Amino acid sequence: MRWATHGKPSEANAHPHLDCTGNLALVHNGIIENFSALRNDLLASGHELRSDTDTEVLVHLIEDEISQGLGLAEALSAVLGRVTGAFALAVVHSSDPDLVVAARRVSPLVLGRNGDVSMVASDIPALLGHAKEFFVLDDDQLALVRPGALEVRNLDGSPVPLRPRAVEWDLEAAERSGYPDFMSKEIHEQPQALADTLAGRLAEEGSLRLDEDRLSDEDLRSVDKVFVVACGSSLHAGLVAKHAIEHWARLPVEIDFASEFRYRDPVLDGRTLVVAISQSGETIDTLQAARSAARQRARVLTVTNVVDSSMARESDAVLYTRAGPEIGVAATKTHLTQIVALDVLALYLAQVRGLFYSNELSLLLDGLRSLPSLVEETIERSGEVQATAERCAEAGSFFFIGRHVGYPVALEGALKLKEISYLHAEGYPAGELKHGPIALVQEGSVVVAVATRTPLWEKVASNIAEVSARGARVVVVANEGDTETAALADDVLWVPKAPSPLFAPVLDVVPLQLLAYHLARLRGNDVDRPRNLAKTVTVE
Ligand code: AGP
Repeated sequence: MRWATHGKPSEANAHPHLDCTGNLALVHNGIIENFSALRNDLLASGHELRSDTDTEVLVHLIEDEISQGLGLAEALSAVLGRVTGAFALAVVHSSDPDLVVAARRVSPLVLGRNGDVSMVASDIPALLGHAKEFFVLDDDQLALVRPGALEVRNLDGSPVPLRPRAVEWDLEAAERSGYPDFMSKEIHEQPQALADTLAGRLAEEGSLRLDEDRLSDEDLRSVDKVFVVACGSSLHAGLVAKHAIEHWARLPVEIDFASEFRYRDPVLDGRTLVVAISQSGETIDTLQAARSAARQRARVLTVTNVVDSSMARESDAVLYTRAGPEIGVAATKTHLTQIVALDVLALYLAQVRGLFYSNELSLLLDGLRSLPSLVEETIERSGEVQATAERCAEAGSFFFIGRHVGYPVALEGALKLKEISYLHAEGYPAGELKHGPIALVQEGSVVVAVATRTPLWEKVASNIAEVSARGARVVVVANEGDTETAALADDVLWVPKAPSPLFAPVLDVVPLQLLAYHLARLRGNDVDRPRNLAKTVTVE
């Protein structure tokens, strides 16, 4: 069943939707914004609509066009000219069962071919192992898909040449390979994903390279402000990047939820670099935020995991994370690789702005290179995290706190727990707790504090004492061997010390991924497909 946008998840609202004759069937991802007016028109002209969905209007509109003598593709084109909103859809008619007509606007759609077999899907991982060639539709294009034959047209009927996309992912990358679920596989793939993301970017002589950057160093030197836009875990990676860019590159950084950014009046111009972060490169809020920034002449640099995704194709520059396909809905390896990719960007900006002595930069690059093996050590402690999860399993409420770059780690830990364990969790800057939320802390609450040794450790230690005094069970993320921090807590999640405080989130978030994972498993949840969530959110 599709992610519900209109009407409750029920059989009547499930796709495909049929027209009045039962000859047409249509599936749709996205939202038809003007569906209400269209629905009223259809009802007034005698159509019988059986669902509460926005989608159903499409199939009845196509029915009307076909009754006027148009073919399926022409009928669909005519209808799409009348609708507003976002869609990736596929429609069939019983008179020509070998033909599927598919179309997109904003929501992603890919085509695949393997000999006589043609395929349509929302993303590339769905076709891995089936398709040998991959094609991506652009906005307002439609595809006529027949066994072994693909034809792409613009809505006005003009032909579009087919251009296969290079896809390096293989089927193995999209299989569980002996792990109980994709989430644990993807957590364990993090060291390799980090190494791949860094590969080729840190040159031998201690300088940085951004291979996919289509902005010149001159362009980057002219930047006087950075604006980060993203959603969910990608936003949390962006919060880490704000610290890194401000600290190393000495550029002011603003950050906003993509869904908020596009509906306010941000101050941007040709000297603003907008960094849009999205593992999928298709999240509609982030895609539209990037488009609105481009309209205001800002340069847009996308950090994404999906080659040729909509955001990658539309941006001035792209920095790919090389995490491989992520199937679990909860972001893990893509989140970690986003943080290091953004660290690379921050260091690169600093380098082009002439802010580094070479020995300082090479120490930081050595630090980045050491992260994959340090993450590996952290994952090896999964059994200890599981034991902590068992001790916290009865808690009614979780608060995750941290300061500085520990704050986005706390947000990410809370988000992971909410997503897959369905437990109540909040992420807060540790210093903010006393301004209200601490009223909720009591016996039976768990407070997870990111208390690794950064310059703000002492402040975090005081905040831990405050929640301890109110009866909370305290779990700390602490550096190996730090007995002083361990003494403040009921449970300790050990991590190695990061080579720079700004790299700490790459290590500190890992035990929080594992904590959420083990708590969700203890509760018998499906960690890969949590309720109410979609991997890529292509509706606003
Ligand atoms: C993360 O675990 C979530 N599934 C979600 O918050 C996600 O990070 C968000 O929807 C953004 O997705 P994107 O990175 O593909 O844009």
